[in-house]
Amino acid sequence: MKSVTSLMELRTILERYRRDQLTVGLVPTMGALHDGHLSLIAKAKEIADIAVVSIFVNPTQFGAGEDFQAYPRDTQRDSQLAAGANTDVLFIPTAQEVYPSGFATTISVAGLTEPLEGQQRGAAHFNGVTTVVAKLLNMTSPDVLLMGQKDAQQAIVVGRMIKDLDLTVRLEVCPTVRELDGLALSSRNTYLTSDERSQAVALYKALQAAQSAVSGGEIDGVKVLTTALTAMEPFGVVPEYLSLVCPQTLNAVSVIDRPTLLAVAAVVGSTRLIDNVTLIPRS
Ligand code: PAF
Repeated sequence: MKSVTSLMELRTILERYRRDQLTVGLVPTMGALHDGHLSLIAKAKEIADIAVVSIFVNPTQFGAGEDFQAYPRDTQRDSQLAAGANTDVLFIPTAQEVYPSGFATTISVAGLTEPLEGQQRGAAHFNGVTTVVAKLLNMTSPDVLLMGQKDAQQAIVVGRMIKDLDLTVRLEVCPTVRELDGLALSSRNTYLTSDERSQAVALYKALQAAQSAVSGGEIDGVKVLTTALTAMEPFGVVPEYLSLVCPQTLNAVSVIDRPTLLAVAAVVGSTRLIDNVTLIPRS
């Protein structure tokens, strides 16, 4: 695995691969790699010749009072994990490389960024994500961009940006990887105390309860949401949002008569967690 910090080195290496007609998959991350990231890298190696992993804790997507300073950073551990997952190129740019002085451009996707995470974290969050992802795409020029379904809205917003800006990359959204009890893997899980870790499964329990109601034939959105909320209660976790939305438009859904995204966010202790599932109505 080659590890690089400058854009010049990255481009030099990638040009060589391109000359050999090798395809490139990009897995953008903020580090603190876990099995979810490793599954994205494995998929990148499956569908492209070369896996590029970027690690950049992007300051512009953190709001005031969020965990930018506290976000786990361990480059040595991440490098070992990335190498073990057969990453070809690990790109760890400095903030100066990504945002040189005078940087003044923001990419903003309207509409899709407003509900759910946009409502809780503010418009700046997704502006930060889309701007940095656009930059990483331009830096890497990958054939495929791999992102996780756990951040469903992020993937939908990035998909919109790719379409709207005629970017040639293909977006591959990969399934959420879960702990044995169902908790979605997230770098932020490391913040949880052991009591909070037991409570954190509440999000998955809510999704699971909704899923079994819908597979049992329930299509009434209010009933499904009530079932999901009830499943969270014993854990003492109250969601910031628990919403049924259209997986394409993110508009609210009240009747689950087609595949519907159930998205949940909750603060457990002081850790903000998100999760989602696509509910498929019984045919
Ligand atoms: O999902 C993440 O880790 C980040 O939002 C991303 C896509 C790497 C952009 O900073």
